[in-house]
Amino acid sequence: MENTRPKRVDIIFLMEGIDPIKVVENAMKKSPDEIILDMIDSGLKGRGGAGFPTGLKWKFTRNEDSYDKYVICNADEGEPGTFKDREILDRVPEKVFAGLAICGYTIGSREGFIYLRGEYNFLLPVLNQKLDVFNAGLKKIGLDFTIQMRSGSGAYICGEESALFESMEGKRGEPRNKPPYPTVSGYLGKPTAINNVETLVYAFMIARIGAEKFKEMGTKDSRGSKVFSISGDTPKAGISELELGMSVQQFVDEFGDGDTKAVQVGGASGGCVPRKMFKETIIGYEGIPTGGSMMLFNSSRSMYNVLHDYLEFFTEESCGQCTPCRVGCQQLLKGIEAVKRGDKNPGYLDDLKKLAKTMKVAAKCGLGQSVANPFISIVSNFREEIIY
Ligand SMILES: Cc1cc2nc3c(=O)[nH]c(=O)nc-3n(C[C@H](O)[C@H](O)[C@H](O)COP(=O)(O)O)c2cc1C
Repeated sequence: MENTRPKRVDIIFLMEGIDPIKVVENAMKKSPDEIILDMIDSGLKGRGGAGFPTGLKWKFTRNEDSYDKYVICNADEGEPGTFKDREILDRVPEKVFAGLAICGYTIGSREGFIYLRGEYNFLLPVLNQKLDVFNAGLKKIGLDFTIQMRSGSGAYICGEESALFESMEGKRGEPRNKPPYPTVSGYLGKPTAINNVETLVYAFMIARIGAEKFKEMGTKDSRGSKVFSISGDTPKAGISELELGMSVQQFVDEFGDGDTKAVQVGGASGGCVPRKMFKETIIGYEGIPTGGSMMLFNSSRSMYNVLHDYLEFFTEESCGQCTPCRVGCQQLLKGIEAVKRGDKNPGYLDDLKKLAKTMKVAAKCGLGQSVANPFISIVSNFREEIIY
């Protein structure tokens, strides 16, 4: 794909000629094991950030011997800079419902939930209305599976899968120890397949168009396409679905404003790519992975301010349960403030980088573990902007 513009794709939002209930009915002509093989063969990886292979997740949940199993759609979408799941649920909700139903049929579950970010509650009346129709449609085709909406609790941490289960169970949203993983013990301690909104729509489309068509796109490690939330210094802010495998340079050629100096890939918890690395960095699992948020910064922006904002966010959103994250976020924030004031010399930034690396291995969940991504990439590449 080098030297070309990113290839635009229209899979997620395509609705023309698609009857989601019919697709579920057709999927049910295959055995659950065949569907799992299709999903594994497609190479689909979770679009919520961690990139776990969807087919394997479904297989592990199916393999658990339990009368009760759950399918959960993670629509918490709390990552700064991400707004694609809202758009998907707004525009093609029936495709999300159908993805849940196909997963339910595959793993042997009778109940599905959509955990919707609290700030998106304005979508609830329409989604509930459409769900009534959809659930009735599932009954008609003989699938014993019902989907319900759940409203999120308003904290970033509630998007972390195990904190999400706690929240759904009416408890404080705090991550659990892993293992056991959700496929073994998730919502109410039962085997649970939890997937991002976009993942479920791709799973639905793979059931419709087949694994071959899906894996024709992208690269060996990053199959298919992806919906990007594009914001910052760009004349083309908004949602774009693009084939995976492009370099940051190709992305910037299409979406930049001619003066892009950095792209924050994957939201606040992702990494910051400076201009000198645009060409060599692939957006995908072989390079820099992303849940879909792309924030572009031009030369008018202070990367100190960018990092400061992110650290304030993490300090505020850390659940406080584990010390590396609770104390680490605060110390990183205080640390760059002290360097900026001139109270600490620039060498202190190297101590802070060591602290960030420690958080990566010592924090209990992905929140504290990923603070090192923006911290190290911004401090290493924009050191002159951080110091006094
Ligand atoms: C702090 C934190 C917040 C998260 N927020 C979300 C979210 O809003 N939506 C999401 O799909 N995954 C989120 N995740 C990832 C989930 O834990 C989980 O990996 C994902 O829902 C799995 O779905 P997938 O396999 O389809 O990507 C978050 C993880 C962490 C550590």
